[in-house]
Amino acid sequence: MRLLGIDIGGSGIKGAPVCLESGKLETERFRIATPQPATPGKVIKTAAEIVRHFDLEGPVGFGFPAVIKNGTVRTAANIDSSWIGVNAAERLAEATGRPVVLVNDADAAGIAEMHYGSGRGRDGVVVIATLGTGIGTSLFVDGKLVPSTEFGHIEMKGRVAEKYAADSVRNEKRLGWREWGGRVNEYLCKLNELIRPDLIIVGGGASNKYEKFSPCFTVDTEVVPARLRNQAGIIGAALAAQTAA
Ligand code: BGC
Repeated sequence: MRLLGIDIGGSGIKGAPVCLESGKLETERFRIATPQPATPGKVIKTAAEIVRHFDLEGPVGFGFPAVIKNGTVRTAANIDSSWIGVNAAERLAEATGRPVVLVNDADAAGIAEMHYGSGRGRDGVVVIATLGTGIGTSLFVDGKLVPSTEFGHIEMKGRVAEKYAADSVRNEKRLGWREWGGRVNEYLCKLNELIRPDLIIVGGGASNKYEKFSPCFTVDTEVVPARLRNQAGIIGAALAAQTAA
């Protein structure tokens, strides 16, 4: 079975058809920069453009960078605040003419890593942290997702953790890999103190460069890179769409 997965991010909206047997993208992903300001109307129009780009019928899965409850957006850290209260699942279904499944973007990445990637077959407490524009997290207990954990918003040094250790902070402050890796390590140590996971999977855009910053890690639990790297969000969204197929 092939389904379309789309990852709506703070800086880019990316999609591709995914083979659900192998968990692999079937074609190159198609990316359009997230329109700014990232208001509902503009983002939904862009997401629908990505759906039309691919000649693939069936339901579409979307990962979205906010807390989602019953299709409705509940938070807006890296998107326009006018999203709060919008039933994004309904609006995306209207704009695309498809059944839509909408999940948090980090939960999507986690679903993919647990199914096809670094978390496959792992019981116990597993947390996936995606380092990108913000920090997203997804938590699994014996393979079952505990949705919307939002551990990117724990407090660190008087601010939310993602304003200290996200990949966007590395770019904005022009931090070297070692300095930024130190910040990520502090973040992972804090996560470890809070939830004592058996495994931490580091994903998001920065996971493509994992080898450059992971030597800074001293956290006292197993830490591995996301095997699906920054494609996990697309793959997990497609997998989530299966529930509507
Ligand atoms: C949002 C999360 C999202 C993460 C990564 C955070 O700012 O609150 O919902 O998963 O960014 O996009």
